[in-house]
Amino acid sequence: MSRTVRTRVAIVGAGPAGLLLSQLLANDGIDSVIVDQRSRADIEGTVKAGTLEYGTVQLLIQSGSTRNAATVAERHEGIEVWFDGEPHRLDFPALTGRHAYLYPQHSVLIDQIATRLDAGQDLRFETTALAVIEGDQPVLKVEDAEGAYDIVADFLVGADGARSLVRPVVTGSSHGGYFREYPYAWFGILTAASRSSKELMYSASPDGFALISQRTDSLQRMYFQCDPETDPDSFTEAQLWDELQKRIPGKTLQQGPITRRDVLRFRSFVASTLRRGRVAIVGDAAHTVPPTGAKGINMAVADVVLLAGSLRELLLTGDERPIDAFSDKAMKRIWSSQHFSWWMTSMTHRAPDGDEFDRHRQLGELRTLFSSEGGRRYLAEYYVGWPFETVDGIWTAPAPVAAA
Ligand code: DHB
Repeated sequence: MSRTVRTRVAIVGAGPAGLLLSQLLANDGIDSVIVDQRSRADIEGTVKAGTLEYGTVQLLIQSGSTRNAATVAERHEGIEVWFDGEPHRLDFPALTGRHAYLYPQHSVLIDQIATRLDAGQDLRFETTALAVIEGDQPVLKVEDAEGAYDIVADFLVGADGARSLVRPVVTGSSHGGYFREYPYAWFGILTAASRSSKELMYSASPDGFALISQRTDSLQRMYFQCDPETDPDSFTEAQLWDELQKRIPGKTLQQGPITRRDVLRFRSFVASTLRRGRVAIVGDAAHTVPPTGAKGINMAVADVVLLAGSLRELLLTGDERPIDAFSDKAMKRIWSSQHFSWWMTSMTHRAPDGDEFDRHRQLGELRTLFSSEGGRRYLAEYYVGWPFETVDGIWTAPAPVAAA
């Protein structure tokens, strides 16, 4: 006898997008089932970006998706962008009235998972999605250690990452969309060291890009631009510190044992559409960006806010207009974030085939941008993020209270 599970919304992927979606749906009394092929420990151990937009964190708190944000998320009131051998600070509160957060994504996930499980969410780890059958009642075919079964829903959402199983069902092909490859990659390390500075440092140096990010007081995340074909084991620890240090010559980096190393390849992708019938995709399943500026999770949250409201209208009142408009509306913010990630990358990385003209032009752009208050504000607004579009209009997070 095959098991069949019924739910209103079947969600593939227990990442930030799938978990937030289940929370927003539950807030409207709509039940969902989430499946993820990974174990809970695997999901919670994934190393991803550390910076979140102001509105993203406020939304996670206000929706009830995270409970620890107020204590775990650190308020970051600026970043330093290094070029011409010196730092240029962006003061977020002065330029935007808001700030960004350092809130490592795995901390967000640990919190989101615990919150949903405590609320009784049907969340199935180590359950692999095998196929999607479209229709008025879409079917998700899954498999776990006990065997295969079907999840039958009123709507199905792929929040299943860049190698999405659901995407081809929506776009009509495994690669239906817009792509950009980059000749860049990041060599990333985690190091058990103290912080090198209070704020994050982005550097556009003659040797290429570097980013000195953070996780906690005793764990730091750092990156330097490398060739996409680099073997992570081809550097000794001393060579890694040399590469990082020479790109921020005016600052002595705090060193410690390197506990993890990886090479991140860059890619931009936007799916041609986010919905077909009663199937939609959100987050990395729908788009990927280069990591500069850390827009990924913020984009996922923006998609989900719009989708959750559209599903509420569809499933509770039968109004199909919001879901019909979902993809076109979501695309506006997606392309805006896509542009930002491309721009921050192009402005701060050294093109392998670039010449002295490119290098001088790039410095020309950085100097002009930072010497203008309008330029600094433009970058800061992008970095701390914009209000979210919802089905009911624009949602602006409450203004921050003054720092203690
Ligand atoms: C990270 C932080 C960033 O601000 C960014 O642009 C990319 C990555 C990080 O902490 O991993």
